[in-house]
Amino acid sequence: MKYYLTTPIYYVNAAPHIGHAYTTFAADLIRRFKRMQGYTVVLTSGTDEHGQKVEKAARAQGKSPKEFTDLISAEFRRTWEKLGIMPDRFRRTTDPRHHRMVQELFRRCKANGYVYKGSYTGQYCTSCELYVTENEPGAPCPDCGRPTETVTEENYFFKLSEFQDRLLELYERNPDFILPETRRNEVIAFVRQGLNDLSITRTSLKWGIPVPGEEKHVFYVWFDALMTYMSAVEGEKVDGEDLWPADLHLIGKEIVRFHAIYWPAFLMAADWPVPKQIFAHGWLLFQEDKMSKSKGNIVRATPIQEVTGVDALRFFLMREIVFGQDGNFSYEALVNRYNSDLANGLGNLASRTLSMIEQYRGGVVPDGREGADPQIAAQAGRTVAAYVAHFDRFEFSRGLELLWSLLGAVDKYLVEQAPWKLIKSESAEDQKRLDATLYTAAEVLRLAAALLAPVIPDSAAKIWSQLGMREPLESVRLQKLAWGQLEPGQKVHRGEPVFPRIKVDEATAKMRELEIQETARQNALLGKKPEAEASETISIDDFSKVELRVAEVVNAERVKGADKLLKLTMDAGEGRPRTLVAGIAEAYEPEELIGKKVVIVANLQPRKLRGIVSEGMVVAATPEKGKPVLVSPMADVPVGTRLT
Ligand code: MSP
Repeated sequence: MKYYLTTPIYYVNAAPHIGHAYTTFAADLIRRFKRMQGYTVVLTSGTDEHGQKVEKAARAQGKSPKEFTDLISAEFRRTWEKLGIMPDRFRRTTDPRHHRMVQELFRRCKANGYVYKGSYTGQYCTSCELYVTENEPGAPCPDCGRPTETVTEENYFFKLSEFQDRLLELYERNPDFILPETRRNEVIAFVRQGLNDLSITRTSLKWGIPVPGEEKHVFYVWFDALMTYMSAVEGEKVDGEDLWPADLHLIGKEIVRFHAIYWPAFLMAADWPVPKQIFAHGWLLFQEDKMSKSKGNIVRATPIQEVTGVDALRFFLMREIVFGQDGNFSYEALVNRYNSDLANGLGNLASRTLSMIEQYRGGVVPDGREGADPQIAAQAGRTVAAYVAHFDRFEFSRGLELLWSLLGAVDKYLVEQAPWKLIKSESAEDQKRLDATLYTAAEVLRLAAALLAPVIPDSAAKIWSQLGMREPLESVRLQKLAWGQLEPGQKVHRGEPVFPRIKVDEATAKMRELEIQETARQNALLGKKPEAEASETISIDDFSKVELRVAEVVNAERVKGADKLLKLTMDAGEGRPRTLVAGIAEAYEPEELIGKKVVIVANLQPRKLRGIVSEGMVVAATPEKGKPVLVSPMADVPVGTRLT
């Protein structure tokens, strides 16, 4: 039986980061899980390479779009390779085979009467590559907030408006078509309001797939990109079954509409089968905010991998965050989770169990099947079933939580049985109990390794081999996994600890350091200059000419007729107030500044601004696209203190 799943195909105007990796890790987890259920699984990912943004980014680097996209697409492939999550098909939208399929989709939609030519005047967001309907000229884009541009174009339109009923019927008939339920409800509510026709070609750009017979037109990026899912497996069969339709499209929540509305409508119009399921996960937040290029708060996966190993990251993402909801990422939380659940939890149980089998039973798994703890056995049986059921519904964190309760129960059981005491007893009964205890712990370890193989594949394989399992881990079938299959008599090999403890401070410092290097490497690849380029050096004497002092804001008011300026009255410890005019009115309300200590340049020549003499300058850090942020001392210091 086949199972075909996809990740979004990622835009090449940003280099891969942990957000992209999150989806791809989850897809890899599902791929491995489904394989262990006996499916022949194919996973597609790729790169989305057309459109204005890519054209612009390439030009900015003095490269042709083709050269530029080759570079970034390869970076995605390299990253997936390194993280051990290479998809089975990696499809680029610049691939000629993909072009043919997009053109075919258009022909079929047209032949079936769902495409017409029209003209469009409206607001367009070049950043999201999205027309913003029902909006005023210059209005901000509802998705990214950037101002939209007014454009008029001759376009081909897709009659999306005709699909309202068929889409609603699709959602009705397949309650699991869109998961989680919140996303499904959003989509249904949106479709119920009625759908506008959709412009699917552009004449305003060249970097796209040409529309057959229409030289000036190229396809709208989403009409192009979505088709990747189908073109990547064109005509392919496995186990005698067509790979298409996809069993699952895994996506982030911001692109649900494209996948759950446009995509099935395009396919219905072309008389092609629609996918079976769409799951939209939440966002990975960094310091409570969505990671994004424009905010500059992006974290990459490979520096983390180098410090903690990739399984620690996979485990953290799947255990800590409820799949489908937003979740916070932080280095500290990652290392803490690793230490508590993997090093102290699973890792400790594995090394204790294996070393006791070595010390007490010559490294051979004793036959303790009969006396094995019935309560643990029953809990293990329930856990296996519930874990698989949760994973079937993409509730990974829930499944893992249950498995860790089982590990906790075994820990407790070991303390109760106290094998270290039993070994000293001469009674045959105690020796039988010792066999049963060791068998019980080892058997739970075996079940845990099998269940964890999709989540932390390398570590699960290590535990599996330390237990001396003969059957390869990949050939375990989850349906057949049951209590009591561990064979007595097999030899364990306790090797290095699978999860050595990690020091939080050292590890997080190292990850941050590597992250800076990795960002620089990716920026160089994208042709971006570092934010702060070192300028010519100056001597200490030059620096000492600048008198930086701490000053307190005594009063602040807006300067009439100047939106950006505030007039500040400052106490710089000179026994007289100073007046400064600062361009910070868009960043601060006057009242919030009063009483704050900030840094000023005290010996700047006075200058007249809007009729006010400004005696110096307030020091602020102004990010490239952001507002100025005032600088103030970390601890209280008297006004007038000089900065040296
Ligand atoms: N090219 C389109 C998708 C076309 S699919 C036919 C696109 N690309 S993207 O590069 O912006 O990638 C978006 C996807 O990356 C999200 O849907 C999600 O899968 C993943 N993520 C990017 N940033 C993310 C977070 N901060 N958190 C979680 N996932 C994130 O949209």
